[in-house]
Amino acid sequence: MAQQLLKGKRGIIFGALDESSIAWKVAEKCFEQGATFTLTNAPIAMRMGAINQLAEKCNAEIIPADATSIEDLEKLISRSVEVLGGKIDFILHSIGMSPNVRKNRAYTDLSYEFLMKTLDVSAVSFHKVLQTAYKQDAISEWGSVLGLTYIAAQRTFPSYSDMAEAKATLESIGRSFGYHYGKHRKVRVNTISQSPTWTTAGSGVKGFDAFFNYADKLSPLGNASADACADYCVFMFSDLSRMITMQNLYHDGGFSSVGVSQEIMDMLMGDNEA
Ligand code: NAI
Repeated sequence: MAQQLLKGKRGIIFGALDESSIAWKVAEKCFEQGATFTLTNAPIAMRMGAINQLAEKCNAEIIPADATSIEDLEKLISRSVEVLGGKIDFILHSIGMSPNVRKNRAYTDLSYEFLMKTLDVSAVSFHKVLQTAYKQDAISEWGSVLGLTYIAAQRTFPSYSDMAEAKATLESIGRSFGYHYGKHRKVRVNTISQSPTWTTAGSGVKGFDAFFNYADKLSPLGNASADACADYCVFMFSDLSRMITMQNLYHDGGFSSVGVSQEIMDMLMGDNEA
């Protein structure tokens, strides 16, 4: 093993549902880099049982928690401190779900009840995790908290629907809590804006393959994989990134800075000539 960037660090990883989950790859890499951590997911997601394999592989305890429930989060965080033997150094929030997207509700015909659920699960839960940790004083100085987001917070992608609102809120919570937690305990809070990635949540978005291919053709480096995202998370949890906080960090192969690429031009010119 080349390095042990996270040796001695303790963490909590939310959102590993199956092998394709970004959180799954993050857990594997954190383990490789010497971290110890607990794994958590919504009790309903545990039914699939895949998380048990990951827990075994990473020698991690699983603590079920609905990330919208303060009571669950209080238990999760205090139990994690107990089993890991000290304060937490890193947290990954890798959670997203929109009932409007799931049920194919058009953006111009949203159910507001669903919208509230989207916001609670995908964005406000980030605040709940941070606030619960803050109140329990459960994160060590220079600890690092990450949320995963998507560029639909800045630009419109029609089929991303109300998840765009959730991501804009998530990123804002990252900045705002980053200020308060930075002042209070030097804890860092950032969001990583990831390329489209083939996972359960990702492929739930209508037309995801077109979405994925378009981004791949626009980005000079191509789409960033879940593995590459996990490497970035390890760096962000490590002491190498200790002065980075309150940022929305693009991890997208250059997508966010490109107007148009030659590949897309060629495709469109080909269409015109045909
Ligand atoms: P995933 O479907 O593997 O992970 C989503 C997780 O959220 C699941 O483990 C699910 O059980 C969990 N979850 C849902 N409701 C919950 C609740 N109430 N309490 C606790 N956990 C709950 O999909 P993926 O793609 O790994 O998603 C992880 C994060 O990455 C999400 O925030 C997603 O929006 C973000 N992201 C994904 C991209 C993609 O194209 N896949 C692109 C950019 C960001």
